Amino acid sequence: MVRKLILDTDPGGDDIFSILWLLSFLKQKNIDLLAITTAAGNVPARNTFNAACQILRLSEVDDIVVGRGVALPEQLFSHASHIHGSDGMGNLSQTLPPGRRRFADSPPSEKLIIDLLNRYPDEVTIVGIAPLTNLAIAENQAPGILKKAKEIVIMGGAFNVPGNVTPVAEFNIAFNVKAAQQVFASRSDMVMLPLDVTRQLVFTSEMIADLVADYPDSKLVEFMAKLVEFLTRTSLEHRETKGERGFLIHDAVAIAYLFYPELLTFKRGQVMIETQGKFTTGQTLLDNRHGVKMGFNAWVATAVDAHNLMACLVQDLTSLIERVHHN
Ligand code: BDR
Ligand code: CA
Repeated sequence: MVRKLILDTDPGGDDIFSILWLLSFLKQKNIDLLAITTAAGNVPARNTFNAACQILRLSEVDDIVVGRGVALPEQLFSHASHIHGSDGMGNLSQTLPPGRRRFADSPPSEKLIIDLLNRYPDEVTIVGIAPLTNLAIAENQAPGILKKAKEIVIMGGAFNVPGNVTPVAEFNIAFNVKAAQQVFASRSDMVMLPLDVTRQLVFTSEMIADLVADYPDSKLVEFMAKLVEFLTRTSLEHRETKGERGFLIHDAVAIAYLFYPELLTFKRGQVMIETQGKFTTGQTLLDNRHGVKMGFNAWVATAVDAHNLMACLVQDLTSLIERVHHN
């Protein structure tokens, strides 16, 4: 039976490639994508919504409902437009046709999450590649609702590597720490894919160059190539890839987990999230001492076969490109 999925996302360049990867499985009828719920994160809520809608249109997928995230006070939450562009799409939104949905007319993300989990209890996998705002609001509005998910998989956190917004904090956790804390308290089997594995996932200029050579007339590939160029520039400026020409495709790890779990290794533990530190807010911790553990809330990825993950991604993007007819 194909899996029912909700993708919670804040596009964002790496979110966009993850959406495209997911759409390749959708087109092969390997998933039942119930909704894409957007959240404020990399850029404000209206922009992440528009980006998701434009990517759906570019990929010729018209029948997926898209939820809108709540606008968060900008002085408290700093976005990442310096990495992803002010539209979250490498400032390429103007070069694409507009999305087919309007922000104001679309359902709130948290409402979609609540309704779908109530409609399909124990059947829906939530894949969260954004700050956890929507999931936390859903849990606030309908206490216990997140337990109705079959599984919650999130990209977030940093354990034995530096953070990417502070020396110790990762963006999706740090952007809304209270939300993260609440979501991690909601279940005992969160699946967490931290920077420890995603810092190894570099989408390189060569990977896109090969696609451009193979599909010189594809509008989708043309867009991807421009986005890679933008993200490569900002990633090099911010020294994210050890000088390698490319960008970190963090969120793709969540799609890999769904379809190629053999690429990942996990450790079970009680993830703690710092919410009040002077310098450490947003830090995620696991107790690695060998004392008796009384509880667990998560499975945390500790290792990834990055080489094979990237190979699977490029191969599956190829299959999406071949299924998009305006090529
Ligand atoms: C996460 O933060 C965002 O900027 C990325 O899209 C990813 O979800 C990486 O820390
Ligand atoms: Ca993201």
